[in-house]
Amino acid sequence: MAIRPIRILGEPGDDVLRQQAQAVDLLDGSIQVLIDDMFETVRAAPGVGLAAPQIGVPLRIVVIEVPEVPAFALINAEVVRHSGRRWVEEGCLSIPGYRGELFRSVKVTVKGLDRQGRPIRIRAGDDLLAQALEHEIDHTNGLLYIDLLGGPEHLHGIERGEAAVAEVESESQETVDHEPRGAARQQTTRGVRRGVPPRLMTARLRLRTPALSKSG
Ligand code: NI
Repeated sequence: MAIRPIRILGEPGDDVLRQQAQAVDLLDGSIQVLIDDMFETVRAAPGVGLAAPQIGVPLRIVVIEVPEVPAFALINAEVVRHSGRRWVEEGCLSIPGYRGELFRSVKVTVKGLDRQGRPIRIRAGDDLLAQALEHEIDHTNGLLYIDLLGGPEHLHGIERGEAAVAEVESESQETVDHEPRGAARQQTTRGVRRGVPPRLMTARLRLRTPALSKSG
């Protein structure tokens, strides 16, 4: 395994961050090495997620390591359903020194393949997993969280060292339901269980986890 350099927005080689990544056809040995390297890279950063374009590989592969679930890789992932809105704070390993506030979905359903090529479906709700899934899958579509900010006032520089104490704050919720009614109930993936139940009724929920602002 190896730690690979992370592409930084505004630095040479950052064009890959803005590309639509390609689907993976064959999960061969080189892809397995890539996934292992992505895990090592995100742990070293440290962060909670990483997408392959962030290390210069324009493929639809993400890894996520959050407290809620065992670390996992997701190939050719797409968000198939999402609902609700919540106001969160996040950062990105490719945009060091900043974090921003934006809306993310409350509930997210994602489908893709695990690293063995088996189809998986993940449901997450109102937690860091849901946020990380949206953030990392956005990367595979060339989208960065700064594209989702309501304005420049929602982007903040952070002090060096402050990133180690990160947080997601959910301060408001507007229910915007995008889910089709009566849709079949989805199976959760083994090892990737549903996120914690919604707790948005709690005023100014503050959820502290390591390195959250460097989400990926
Ligand atoms: Ni990121």
